[in-house]
Amino acid sequence: MPGEVPADTPPPAVHGDFSSAERRAVYRAIHERRDIRSHFVPDPIPDAVLGRLLDAAHHAPSVGFMQPWDFIVIRQESIRRAVHECFLEANLEAARAYCGEQRALYDSLKLAGILDAPVNLCITCDRARSLGAGLGRHSDPATDLYSTACAVQNLWLAARAESLGVGWVSILDFDRLRAVLEIPESIVPVAYLCVGYVSEFPAKPQLETAGWEHREKLGQLIHFDRWGCQDKQRNAALLAATGEV
Ligand SMILES: Cc1cc2nc3c(=O)[nH]c(=O)nc-3n(C[C@H](O)[C@H](O)[C@H](O)COP(=O)(O)O)c2cc1C
Repeated sequence: MPGEVPADTPPPAVHGDFSSAERRAVYRAIHERRDIRSHFVPDPIPDAVLGRLLDAAHHAPSVGFMQPWDFIVIRQESIRRAVHECFLEANLEAARAYCGEQRALYDSLKLAGILDAPVNLCITCDRARSLGAGLGRHSDPATDLYSTACAVQNLWLAARAESLGVGWVSILDFDRLRAVLEIPESIVPVAYLCVGYVSEFPAKPQLETAGWEHREKLGQLIHFDRWGCQDKQRNAALLAATGEV
């Protein structure tokens, strides 16, 4: 068709393009980010570095530019101990969902580094924040929570680029967590993170190495135009550069 751009033509250069090294660095951070719970070392995190992580989180996309997040920076050991108790109790409860070999494997997993990491962060969502005047939330009010998750991911990727590990702890008694951190009723704690330097970044997710779960083939998850329309040939074209096919 006249005027149609062949599929393999690179897009025109625009102001602000990333160099190929910068592009590689972005993908590297994405692929080498890990959830860390067992490789923390106690070295302190300089304030300037922690500040950059929080600034990265604060530059996340947010619905209507609502910026619904707040950040509780937790260094005090007594508070981390109290949160660790919230984890232990919730983890006992969670373990009951499994039995037999799976229970034994669950019990062998380390699922939080609350006491090992020098800094813990609680990232919250203020669902009543007036910034943005509700733009984008009329159809789905939960988009403020999704926005907060975007802030977590920004921080997680920036941390990888700073050689800092981050572990997300969601196995918690959230009522007790609220009490420990004195979080008001109207504020939702979305993420509790453990942050610190690490002895290594494992190449694979720790749950994969432990035999708990594997990464699904991306091709299994791609549909064309309608749910359920899957196509191996079109997958092959899309995924040739990813190493999957
Ligand atoms: C919302 C959320 C909650 C999570 N909660 C926990 C948790 O409580 N304990 C844990 O060990 N890992 C937790 N994780 C980490 C995942 O297990 C981890 O991301 C996944 O196994 C993939 O590994 P990777 O992050 O190293 O790629 C959580 C991750 C997300 C996104």
